[in-house]
Amino acid sequence: MSSADGAAPRIALAVRALAAGYGDQPVVEGVDLDVPLGQVVAVAGPNGAGKSTLLKAILGIARLLGGRITLDGADVTRLPLQKLARLGVGYVPQLDDVFDALRVRENLEMGGYLCTRRERAQRFDRTLTVFPQLTPLLERYVETLSGGQRKMTAIARVLMLDPKILVLDEPTAGLSPELSRMVLHEQVRVLGDLGTSVLLVEQKAVAALEVSDWAYLMVRGRVVMSAPAATILADPSMREVFLGGAGTAAAVEGASR
Ligand SMILES: Nc1ncnc2c1ncn2[C@@H]1O[C@H](COP(=O)(O)OP(=O)(O)OP(=O)(O)O)[C@@H](O)[C@H]1O
Ligand SMILES: [Mg+2]
Repeated sequence: MSSADGAAPRIALAVRALAAGYGDQPVVEGVDLDVPLGQVVAVAGPNGAGKSTLLKAILGIARLLGGRITLDGADVTRLPLQKLARLGVGYVPQLDDVFDALRVRENLEMGGYLCTRRERAQRFDRTLTVFPQLTPLLERYVETLSGGQRKMTAIARVLMLDPKILVLDEPTAGLSPELSRMVLHEQVRVLGDLGTSVLLVEQKAVAALEVSDWAYLMVRGRVVMSAPAATILADPSMREVFLGGAGTAAAVEGASR
């Protein structure tokens, strides 16, 4: 994860010793995670591993029980979602990520609610440069779109905030394998290539690894593996653990952090 000149990359988002849940008992614990500037970082793991809880804790939605979160070096621990949005954290939740009863254009306009009218117009144009596929869909109601188009609208809506870092919770949930690959390659990777840092939660581990620079595996609320995505893809045993779901991963829990 070092840059060409050997200097350590700048870290867009850093999480240290995070513990979080919904009551007094932690659902996730001891999580350390870095998202370097302009990189795509994936968090994979089985159902119920705590992936969404981790994101919600970072975003000030779940209950933070301990730990520290920094954004480009500045402490943002316990800041609420609205403040984080103003600081450049864009969040696309697993569910309820878009307004069904509104047109695509209206969804994007609502995404720019924090901007001036002029900024909104500029960002609207730029968002359509990133996702030109949305241009012919602007007047369509979201409820009439396909799953992939809908997810693109959800991501585009958050792009209207011009985020420094985009946090995506299972952007491929409910999509076919083919559409999932399209969303990951044509939407998530494109953002990474444009210099936006991305923290991506995905259950579709191979597809996520293919578009990520670095990956974490979470099992039962803890990070049990962390490595460059290319290394995991190339190493049969790491790959097996990563793809093995709860059973295999639990067997190595704590062993290869
Ligand atoms: N709002 C909530 N209140 C109480 N417990 C919750 C809440 N949301 C999630 N949990 C619990 O926290 C644990 C982790 O859930 P979480 O949604 O973070 O998992 P996940 O890794 O995102 O799973 P999935 O892949 O199914 O989305 C689960 O045991 C779940 O039941
Ligand atoms: Mg989840």
